[in-house]
This record gives sequence, structure tokens and C-alpha cells, in this order.
Amino acid sequence: MRATLPTTTLAILASSLLAAGAPVSYKPEACSVIASGSAECRQAPADFLRIPTGNHAFNNASTEILQDAFSALAVLQNEYYQIGRSTWPSAIDWTAAVTQTVVSGMLSTLTRSLDLVDPGATSSFQGAHENLVSSVYDQIIGYYYGQDIVAIKDEAFDDILWVVLGWIEAMNFARLHDSLHFPKAEHNPNATLPTDIHVALATLPWRGRFWIPSFQSRSQSFWLLGAEGWDTELCHGGMVWNPRLEPYKNAITNELYISASISMYRHFADDSTVDGDPVYLQAAIEGYKWLVNSNMTNDAGLFVDGFHIGGLADGNIECNVRDEMVYTYNQGVLLTGQRGLWEVTGSPSYLADGHDLIQAVINATGWDLEANQPIDAVGVPSELPRWRGLGRGGILEDECDASGTCSQDSQTFKGIYFHHLNEFCRPLDGNSFKEHKSFNVNSFDSVKAAHRSACQAYLGWIKHNALAALETRDARGRYGMWWGAGLVGNSIAVSPQGDGIDHDAANTTDYRNHGTPQDDIWGRVSRWLPGPQKGGLDKQVVARHLESTDTDMDMNMMESVTKSPAGRQMPRSTDPNDRGRGRTVETQVGGLALLRAYWDVSQSVST
Ligand SMILES: *[C@@H]1O[C@H](CO)[C@@H](O)[C@H](O)[C@H]1NC(C)=O
Ligand SMILES: *[C@@H]1O[C@H](CO)[C@@H](O)[C@H](O)[C@H]1NC(C)=O
Ligand SMILES: *[C@@H]1O[C@H](CO)[C@@H](O)[C@H](O)[C@H]1NC(C)=O
Ligand SMILES: *[C@@H]1O[C@H](CO)[C@@H](O)[C@H](O)[C@H]1NC(C)=O
Ligand SMILES: *[C@@H]1O[C@H](CO)[C@@H](O)[C@H](O)[C@H]1NC(C)=O
Repeated sequence: MRATLPTTTLAILASSLLAAGAPVSYKPEACSVIASGSAECRQAPADFLRIPTGNHAFNNASTEILQDAFSALAVLQNEYYQIGRSTWPSAIDWTAAVTQTVVSGMLSTLTRSLDLVDPGATSSFQGAHENLVSSVYDQIIGYYYGQDIVAIKDEAFDDILWVVLGWIEAMNFARLHDSLHFPKAEHNPNATLPTDIHVALATLPWRGRFWIPSFQSRSQSFWLLGAEGWDTELCHGGMVWNPRLEPYKNAITNELYISASISMYRHFADDSTVDGDPVYLQAAIEGYKWLVNSNMTNDAGLFVDGFHIGGLADGNIECNVRDEMVYTYNQGVLLTGQRGLWEVTGSPSYLADGHDLIQAVINATGWDLEANQPIDAVGVPSELPRWRGLGRGGILEDECDASGTCSQDSQTFKGIYFHHLNEFCRPLDGNSFKEHKSFNVNSFDSVKAAHRSACQAYLGWIKHNALAALETRDARGRYGMWWGAGLVGNSIAVSPQGDGIDHDAANTTDYRNHGTPQDDIWGRVSRWLPGPQKGGLDKQVVARHLESTDTDMDMNMMESVTKSPAGRQMPRSTDPNDRGRGRTVETQVGGLALLRAYWDVSQSVST
């Protein structure tokens, strides 16, 4: 129904958003490297680390890690992608969009790194390297047609915005590959065939660039649909999660809006064939201002899930009922937005916010950044280390992981986290500022050094997670969901009652695993359930009165835990990662994103 947008939508949005003028930063006092600031602003932050750190130089990834990341990609595509259907059929719409995003990011990693594993081929990239990269790119192109855009347009605003990030990632790869390996075409932005054969041979860009206009129009139309979720009537701003439920303004939808908007802006600003559009920049900055002022972070510095508007019927318009649930992906998506806002504004406060968030996450997994090791000693193999808020033993975990009770949604979360951490920690090159008349090189250099050393300090933690995840692979190379399974010697004796997590904490709704409750706060008429829903126009919202809050999925999840060995059926396996949904396209994407992050961040901080 929302497929036919009036062509004037962008213009209307632009005029309303731009009415207040374009601020440079959400913090007026911030010291941009491209503003001739006050005296105090000439001092850029010397350090993004909140705690002193020791020597973390010994966490380099070897090329073996690149090989492991490539294997994760190969298994993902071989096991889960179907060429005939041009998609990963076992994924649901939004998890397929995330899969496409992570695979496209991996293509960028490969095109930058292949020479390191196969140095002999530098002069003939058009041969074997090109064939490898293009084979996977072709599957991404296939998914451009395989993506169920009709269905996604009727889903929630977060579902819609994942699509934007995916095609921007694909465009970034196409441009990177072209610029690295087809330099003679570097200054030819035109994806058209020259009519003269000699001109064609001399100037044609990489063939993958021909798809950029298609990817661009897909991301643009989905951004427009997503932006309809921006609402100023309640809570003075912010994105609504789902137009078919009681209004709920959650972290993920707002983070996606910020990251998608600034990425759109940068895409257009970087591509000389189109004009940058200030509406995207304005949306990102407005979204960011709203989010940081929304009180959506808890005492540990982590994003909680979101806000309800309690007493709406009585005229309240404030976001006043907070849901305290903490998921890994809510700590990740914003990092791409913060990185993008820095690139455009030159304001280091966005980077500082991102580093604060990363360090809060690392601490909440039970990792001591200063000592570069887990906080809690891993003792008896059968005893789980203490739950620290977002993991244990230094390993990132969602609350459903240890008990093997994750929904299809939750199985995707940790991969999303590492995808965006990776994007955030790319080295600062200053390319977007160099032409600026007020560019302050000294200030930039100190921000760059601070960013690099902070990301370097994270490397030990990333490595710790990567090595743990590698251990969850089965004989076919498929990654498990619970990376910390090795902490308890791969024993399966972990139930939701025994995982050390308070699943009944006050004001905490694990709706991504168990669906939304039917109550006054979440709504009594409709209910949202995770994972695939069959039948009905709306796949995500089930308007019915449920007799029981237990979904079929909850029952399946517990199967291998609850069946006694003396019972009719033996547990399928003693591998904790076989419980519940087991190994899926989503858990494979998680392994890929993590291994890729370890490789990329390691490369970033050593250059
Ligand atoms: C880490 O990698 C960089 C770049 O490859 C190299 O210069 C440095 O010596 C390595 N450090 C260690 C401790 O291996
Ligand atoms: C790209 O296309 C434009 C407009 O058609 C044309 O003016 C320009 O010369 C082309 N550039 C190259 C490098 O072919
Ligand atoms: C932020 O939210 C928490 C949890 O609902 C609440 O206790 C606190 O008072 C809020 N702070 C502000 C400044 O609104
Ligand atoms: C739970 O939420 C209610 C309503 O916002 C609030 O009054 C109460 O303090 C919250 N309790 C906790 C433990 O956060
Ligand atoms: C790390 O988390 C603990 C709670 O587990 C908290 O007491 C401590 O202050 C945090 N440290 C930092 C540096 O954030």
C-alpha cells in the first residue's frame, strides 16, 4: 500500500527537516576538524580510551584468519544460498537483507586482501582473483531480484531500513573494487558502454559498476519508506518501530534511521554523478540528537530496547515507559552512524560516543580491557562464568544463547554487532575533509591516532571472541550460535533457569525471542511474534488472542535439554549449538562477520 509514494515526498521531507537550518554537530561545543574553532577546540581529544591499556601489539591476525573468514563465506553460500531461487531461502526477509549486507562487506575485504594470500597474481587481477570475487558478486546481483520487496514494504520500519544498509554496502564494494583494480577507469564514473571499441577497452569501468544505479534506486526508495516512521507528535521525535502496533520507539529503528541516512548522504556525496542531498544529513543529525537525548542507555552505558508512551489515551505524549531489555545488535548499528557523522561533520564527539559504547559492551561481556583478559577466571569447566550483562568470560552473548532458546531474529544479532564495529574501526583517512578550507591537519592527526590506538586495544577482545567462535564449527564448517559453549566444555546442561541470567527482571521484555505480550503497554489487539509467520497479509503481526504464550518454537528449543536419556528419544547430540534452531544461515553470518572483523580491524590498526 505504501509502494506508490508521491514523487514529491523527498521535497516535502526536505522542507520540513531543513526548516531549522543544518547544524554541524549535535553538541555545539564539539571541536570539528573542519571548523575554525575556538582556542580550546584546537585541542583534539588525545585519547578515546576511558581506561589505561597496556601493550596490545600481539593480537595481529595471521592470514589464516582471512582464510577462516573466507571459509565462513564459502560455507554460507554453499549451504544456504540457492542459485535457482537467488536467495538464502531459509532466511526471513530482514535476516536475508543482513546476510546480503555482510556478504557484500566481505567482498570489500576480499578485494583489499587477496594479494596478501596470493601475492603472485598482483599483475593479473582480472584472472583468478576477479573470478572469485565476481562469483560471489553475481549471487548478490541475483538477490537483487530474489529480495521480496513487496513483502518488506508492508513490514515494520526496521525491516525496511535493513534493505537500505544492504545495497549501500554493495555499492561501496563495487566502487572499491573498481578503484583498486581498474584504475584506468577510475575517472570514468559513467556506467555506459562507449560506442567506440578502442574507447571502450581504454575506459570501461569494472562491470559491477553497471549495477550501482539499480542498487541506488532500491536503497533510495526503501529509505523513503523507512523515513515515514519518523514522528514528531510523540516524544518530540524519533522513529516508530511498527505502524501496526501500539507506538513503541525503539533503539534499533532509530539507530537504523541514523546509520541509513548518513550512509545515503555519504554515498551521494562520494559519487560525482549525483548531487548530495542535505535531507539525508539533516535526518541523520536530527535522529542522532533525539536518540542521545532519549535516555535510552542504562547504568552500564548500554542501549536498552526502547520506550512506550504510557497513558496515550489520557493525552500523554512523552516516552515514559522504558523497556530495559538489552540486545547485542542495539549496541552495534549506531556505530556506522557515528562513523558516518564524523566523516561528514569532522566532529570527534561522534567518535568519542562510539568508543564509549564499544567499551561499555566489552566490559559487559566480562572482559578487562586494561589487562587484556577476561575479568572472571574460567574455573571448573562445568560452571558458567558470571553473567556480566551482555556476555560472560569475555565472550559476547545474547540472553538466549547459553540456553539455546534464540529465535531466528536473535540468531542474527551478534553478527550485526561485529559488522558495524568493523565499519567503525576502519582507519581514518581524512579524504572527506582534505579539500575543506578550514581543515585542521594537526587536529585530524591526533584524532586519527587516538582512534587507531583505541581500536587496537579492542583487538584482544575481538580475537578472544573469534577463537571461541571458531570452536563452534561442526564437521561441515557451520558456526554455532553460542560462541561461549567452550566455556563449559561444550556441555549441554544449561537451561534458562541455570544460565545465571535474571529472565524475569522488572520492565524487561524479551519480545525478540518470545513475542510481545498482550497487555496494556504492548497492546491487547495485535501481537508481534519473531521469525516466519504463515498466512495473512501481515507476516509480522498476528491479530489474534493467544491461549498460551508458549510458541511452538519455545517448545522445540527446549527439546534436547528436557528429553531425558531414559525417555523415548535420546538427545540428538551433546553439542550445545545443536539445541533449539541449531546452526542456521543466521549463525553462519555471525561467524563470518566476527572473523571478518578480526581480520579487518587487525589490518586497520597495523597500517
Ligand atoms: C602486526 O602486523 C603488522 C603489519 O602486518 C606488523 O608490522 C607488525 O610487526 C605485526 N606485529 C606483530 C606483533 O606481529
Ligand atoms: C560521462 O557522461 C557524460 C554525460 O553523458 C559525458 O559528458 C562525459 O564525457 C562522460 N565521461 C566519460 C569519462 O566518458
Ligand atoms: C531514564 O530512564 C530511567 C528508567 O526508566 C529512569 O529511572 C530515569 O529517571 C530516566 N532519566 C531521565 C533523565 O528521564
Ligand atoms: C518499571 O517501570 C515503571 C513504569 O515506568 C517504573 O515506575 C518502575 O520504577 C520501573 N521499575 C524498575 C525496577 O525499573
Ligand atoms: C564494568 O562493569 C562493572 C559491572 O559488571 C562495573 O562495576 C564497572 O564499573 C564497569 N567498568 C567500566 C570501566 O565501565
